[in-house]
Amino acid sequence: MIRFPDDFVFGSATSATQSEGSRNGISGETTWDYLFQSRPELFYNKLGPYKTSNFFNDYKKDLEFLDKTGQTAFRTSISWARLLPEGRGKVNKQAVDFYTDVFKRIKAKGIKLYINLFHFDMPMKFQEIGGWENREVVKAYVNYAKTCFEEFGEFVDIWFTFNEPVVHTECGYLKQFHYPMLVDSKKYVQVGYNTQLASSKAVEIFRKSKLKSKIGIILNLSLAYPRSCDELDLKASRIAQLFQNRSFLDPSIKGHFNQELVDLVRDNGMEPYYELDDLKIIEENTVDLLGVNYYQPMRVKKKEKDDIKIFRPEKYYDDYKKEGIRINPYRGWEIYPQGLYDIAMDIKNNYGNIDWLVTENGIGVENEEKFKANGMIEDDYRIDFFKEHLTYLHKAIEEGANCHGYMVWTFIDCWSWLNEYKNRYGLVELDLKTGEKKLKKSGYWFKKLAENKGF
Ligand code: BG6
Repeated sequence: MIRFPDDFVFGSATSATQSEGSRNGISGETTWDYLFQSRPELFYNKLGPYKTSNFFNDYKKDLEFLDKTGQTAFRTSISWARLLPEGRGKVNKQAVDFYTDVFKRIKAKGIKLYINLFHFDMPMKFQEIGGWENREVVKAYVNYAKTCFEEFGEFVDIWFTFNEPVVHTECGYLKQFHYPMLVDSKKYVQVGYNTQLASSKAVEIFRKSKLKSKIGIILNLSLAYPRSCDELDLKASRIAQLFQNRSFLDPSIKGHFNQELVDLVRDNGMEPYYELDDLKIIEENTVDLLGVNYYQPMRVKKKEKDDIKIFRPEKYYDDYKKEGIRINPYRGWEIYPQGLYDIAMDIKNNYGNIDWLVTENGIGVENEEKFKANGMIEDDYRIDFFKEHLTYLHKAIEEGANCHGYMVWTFIDCWSWLNEYKNRYGLVELDLKTGEKKLKKSGYWFKKLAENKGF
């Protein structure tokens, strides 16, 4: 049997926009409401973020599934636009009451509560003035963070400043998957920089609050495996990792940006606007712990085509399709459980073995109803996926990795940005037509996993 330490937590993660429903209750608009109104054709089910899994109305019943799946920790986010419909200023009392009740109920179950402050959900009011491009928005975010610490500080065990900051930066400013759907290298760098600054400033204000909880950042880490040991393939892999991992890992944990990345940005004339005080703030406000989202590795080789003319990560490497790898056909992502072990070793060897936990790991499957037998989705593929990743995580812990938990994506099948409900990840099934929620086989399995601290 693979057994984890007694204080190891097992849980799941979701986010506000993906579960609550932006038109349930009072809320300001986010960029997702706006994008859906202007370009509905981009969204898989053409539903928008309006109802999602209806957690805002269903939460009392939904939270019962935390017990049914045996979770000892749960992660969600607060919606900035719900808490502060104008982005700043007047606090929405209805939002305070809602979150307070949700958080109280979770704590009453003896479940640890991890709250993230930003999960891709920029209030539209602020995107109109440039979103993360604008330091005014950084200021407003710090004020929002302070409001959250004051209103909900007593319930939260761990705060996270951001979920996957690489994603809103790249998807909004290079890849056109998130609003404002631009391709603009200069803004891409500025948004990345300002996001890090916002994170460090939230840590600073958190320290002043004297709360006893901890604060971290959630990063989607993927090691970049080189095609070969050829010097140029190795260089490609190192640079891919600078963009994907080191960009936020270094300032968040070490308190300064990675010098090789800084040089690369400067050599391309892409230095962001910054103020001297910023660097001191970043240096003095590192995180207590790290959340790691892991889905797939990167595989790269040296640049062979001169196809990228602007400054972006892919200017320095080509993706490499390795023969014989396993792919999740629905999402197109490689399945490589050993990647989690390798990340653990990178954190151990290069980031002072900081305290961390897996904050997302999971497999998205399309048309999951086809796996239904006797009314239950028999998602053995998901159980196998979890088992394989847990096996490598356990090996890493035995070798000294400082990992204290494993959270799957996701709790109840949720709305997922442009993909909406295409790929299902939940321990709990959501029937989109009836709104009914039901445990999947993996939900039952997860309860045993948590009870036995292993499998
Ligand atoms: C994670 C995000 O990276 O991927 C989640 O934090 C998202 O918000 C999840 O839902 C799955 O994404 P997708 O596109 O496969 O539905």
